[in-house]
Amino acid sequence: EVGDGSEFVKERSVSVILLAGGKGKRMGANMPKQYLPLLGQPIALYSLYTFSHLIEVKEIIVVCDPSYQDIFEDAKEKIDIQIKFTLPGKERQDSVYSGLQAIDLNSELVCIHDSARPLVLAGDIQQVLKDAKLNGAAVLGVPVKATIKEANDDRFVQRTLNRKTLWEMQTPQVIEPELLKKGFEFVNREGLEVTDDVSIVEYLKHPVLITEGSYTNIKVTTPDDLLLAERILNLNS
Ligand code: CTP
Ligand code: MG
Repeated sequence: EVGDGSEFVKERSVSVILLAGGKGKRMGANMPKQYLPLLGQPIALYSLYTFSHLIEVKEIIVVCDPSYQDIFEDAKEKIDIQIKFTLPGKERQDSVYSGLQAIDLNSELVCIHDSARPLVLAGDIQQVLKDAKLNGAAVLGVPVKATIKEANDDRFVQRTLNRKTLWEMQTPQVIEPELLKKGFEFVNREGLEVTDDVSIVEYLKHPVLITEGSYTNIKVTTPDDLLLAERILNLNS
């Protein structure tokens, strides 16, 4: 079906769920990491602006604690598309579910993004949207560069994984709304825990396509990632 035009993502057909409901324990800062300044601007606003400039995007649902809404309210004035807010849940998965309840019923794709990934490139987003339109579900990822070994609790190596088959998952993760809803029904019914969104779809045995993204799309997790993100931004200026 590739190339028959079915991969064409219509204007204003995508709902973005921007996840900003985490606490940032590993960062250990005095506020959740997504609100820390990166070259003077809160981390979460970088991807908010990137998504807001894309013709495919219809609305952005920001999942965040009400005490931080002001940060986004101020940004709203510079953005043409609609911004909605929903409350975060206990786990990331619960925050995604919360955002899903707020999306426009006519949306053709749900695009889930970690606000802790400020450096995502517009071109990579557009590519993963196309792949999701074609396949129903797609996720940005990069080939793993390091050798990965599996160890037991005592740190004894159990197994070396075949690097050629390994991909590191990033966001956005993009899924058709009906597929995601079906996946959630299944996961909730079975009481399963998932760490990323496409795994919900994997449970339904629906194929998930990996879109090759960029190594610069890091997730700011620990203090050294903040320095790294600053360096990457400075590279491009
Ligand atoms: N997230 C969320 N709701 C949660 C947990 C996480 O919206 N209940 C969001 C975070 O804000 C982040 C993204 O999901 O943008 C990825 O999660 P992670 O990097 O693990 O962030 P935190 O959970 O905040 O960090 P930590 O695990 O170190 O506490
Ligand atoms: Mg977390």
